[in-house]
Amino acid sequence: MKKISTALLFFLCLGCSQNVTQQERTTTTNTSTPPTTTASAAPAKDPEMDRFVSDLLAKMTLEEKIGQLNLAAIGFDVTGPVVSENVDENIRKGNVGGVFNTFTPVAARKLQEFAVNNTRLKIPLLFGYDVIHGHRTIFPIPLALSTSWDMNVIEQSARIAAEEASADGLNWVFSPMVDIARDARWGRISEGAGEDPYLGSEVAKAMVRGYQGDDLASSNTVMACLKHFALYGAAEAGRDYGTTDMSLQRMYNEYMPPYKAAIDAGVGSVMTSFNDINGIPATGNRWLMTELLRDTYGFDGFVVTDYTAINEMVAHGMGTEAEAGELALKAGTDMDMVGEVFLKHLGKSVKDGKVTEAEVDLACRRILEAKYKLGLFEDPYRYTDEARPAATIMKPEFIEASRDIARKSMVLLKNSKNTLPLQQRGSIALIGPLANRQREMIGNWSAAGDWKQAVSLEQGIRNVVGNKVKINYAKGANIADDEQMLKRLNAHGGELDIDSRSSETMIQEAVRVARSSDVIVAVVGESQGMTGEAASRADITLPGQQLELLKALKKTGKPLVVVLMNGRPLALQWEEQNADAILETWFAGTQGGNAIADVLFGLYNPSGKLTTTFPQVVGQVPLFYNHKNTGRPFGGELLDKYKSRYLDVTNEPLYPFGFGLSYTTFSYGTLQISKTTISPTESLEVRVEVRNSGSYDGEEVVQLYIQDLVGSISRPVKELKNFQKIALKKGEARTVTFTITPGDLKFYNYALEHVLEPGDFKVFVGTNSRDVQEVAFRVQE
Ligand code: BGC
Repeated sequence: MKKISTALLFFLCLGCSQNVTQQERTTTTNTSTPPTTTASAAPAKDPEMDRFVSDLLAKMTLEEKIGQLNLAAIGFDVTGPVVSENVDENIRKGNVGGVFNTFTPVAARKLQEFAVNNTRLKIPLLFGYDVIHGHRTIFPIPLALSTSWDMNVIEQSARIAAEEASADGLNWVFSPMVDIARDARWGRISEGAGEDPYLGSEVAKAMVRGYQGDDLASSNTVMACLKHFALYGAAEAGRDYGTTDMSLQRMYNEYMPPYKAAIDAGVGSVMTSFNDINGIPATGNRWLMTELLRDTYGFDGFVVTDYTAINEMVAHGMGTEAEAGELALKAGTDMDMVGEVFLKHLGKSVKDGKVTEAEVDLACRRILEAKYKLGLFEDPYRYTDEARPAATIMKPEFIEASRDIARKSMVLLKNSKNTLPLQQRGSIALIGPLANRQREMIGNWSAAGDWKQAVSLEQGIRNVVGNKVKINYAKGANIADDEQMLKRLNAHGGELDIDSRSSETMIQEAVRVARSSDVIVAVVGESQGMTGEAASRADITLPGQQLELLKALKKTGKPLVVVLMNGRPLALQWEEQNADAILETWFAGTQGGNAIADVLFGLYNPSGKLTTTFPQVVGQVPLFYNHKNTGRPFGGELLDKYKSRYLDVTNEPLYPFGFGLSYTTFSYGTLQISKTTISPTESLEVRVEVRNSGSYDGEEVVQLYIQDLVGSISRPVKELKNFQKIALKKGEARTVTFTITPGDLKFYNYALEHVLEPGDFKVFVGTNSRDVQEVAFRVQE
């Protein structure tokens, strides 16, 4: 029997606060002890920094301290309803700790000079920005980066982004987003690393390393911001900003690992999430922001809210704006993004005794420490060297890296009869609303990226094959037909040109073009604005008439290659059954067109693997591979009614997590295990020979999953615990060895203790989460 203890106490504590008044809530909520035994110590503070910041704080007035807690947005490219007013004036008054949405060394220097020359204590500003998948050189969207399963290139993308951002006057980036997402309807699934906590943790670490390097004070590194803390990706019904209500066991085991990994990697700042968590918005949730984040995980940087998240606590039902500010500060939130609640109300809250000056000091100290770590007190102009952009931004090796990373992120979903790679001869019917789009290539959250510098697929094909292939183009369909949706997309930078011809006319033209060509390359999917923030979709099939277009093209009998551009898993049943080949290219970045052409013509052999499950139909979501079993699992017994299943669709995904094909084939030898019984402190090895048995050189992601067969709480049917991406020449074989450590077998039990429970385990190794071999082992007490 395994232990159950303090978790129940915690749930009771959460329940206690439900009937108290607002006044009581301000002082009594969220004070429960986190029921966990895995506290990590915060790193020891640099004593010199401590002395410097203490001396500075001692000189500051309350108003000056509150000013540091304010992050002001400057007038363009905003993502929310409020833009701070009179920023210059506010900086002069000492009312601003940092600004965002401003870049270029000239602009940043101008504002920094306001702050340094016109304020009493000359405290420099932070300059933050949404550098999400590249700054000026845009890389594939984060979901696509994760499908490379290549931590080196992911780190390299963040390193290049940091080089460019820091050359452009920035010292702080609002990335990485590490929210686990299992619901394909949620638009922001495009911004993270998918559904898996282990892979998500590896990506989180790589991103933090890439941005921050070894020395935050160096002029070519930037402070990263982990977001969105926490559980933002678990929004109810996949609707953005939605509520999250989740057991602590699921939270700790399945959603928190990537946040913790980024903190362990030393991330300098954390952004709160918009959602409420088990009844309390994250921004005002003391248990989350102090007890878990700081006391348990040992985070010692500063916390910034998401955009106006304190103001939004009013709509969450947490009280007035002033009360929301008090809750947020007490919870451990340090900096207020754009909403100016701290600026407007905190002085009075201190006077009224609702918060203490010591609480303001603590928040201010953390922000000053960040500035110290970035080297800003030593040199406020460290990131404003006007000579750097010309030598750094979009330099040839960055552009080359963007092409290489894009190729590595593409996932080959189907390739019957070796339709791909295409021959460099004859003619191609290049059809579809995305075939010549540059704007879509750089995806959403490509804030400082210039889509006019992006390579469309049409251009990419011309670049790669020149005149050897004749390209016959037809648009074939609009990206969507719903007028409201189109209006909305274009109101937010969609740049979509809508063809006024009827869909019949467009399809007929495309069919004509297809008939006169050797092969059809249909480039279909979503517009970039259909994913990202506030871009949830209830129907995740191809929008508009694109499926009708594909059906008409199929009837021509020509080989049909579907090139997908999209930011979420789509429901692609017809496409899977009818296309000859399907290549998932996501939104591939500045060099997207060249990179896709490289893959289509076999200059690069695709190696990406899905990091989110693709469902057959939207009604299956949330659908993820690492689910629990039920007491009545469905094993295919069609007439057995009382099973966990749907009447109208099987439980299987269309494409499982970890899935992705190659132009070559890989054959796996028999899985070997070094020991079948170990003690709780021992490790063991599993080994498998992988052979490139096809006719192209290629890369394979060998994946290792574990199942804990009996636990004190139910355990997932499979959990990714390791992987290796290996390159094999055709005919080459290699033995891949994995070590399974006691840490790989641990999980958070009902009492939220991180434990290894002896008993029977299975280990699975294979090419994706479905197609695996298994061996068993036992951990003996
Ligand atoms: C988003 C954040 C982003 C912030 C600043 C918010 O709406 O949720 O991810 O960093 O805006 O632009």
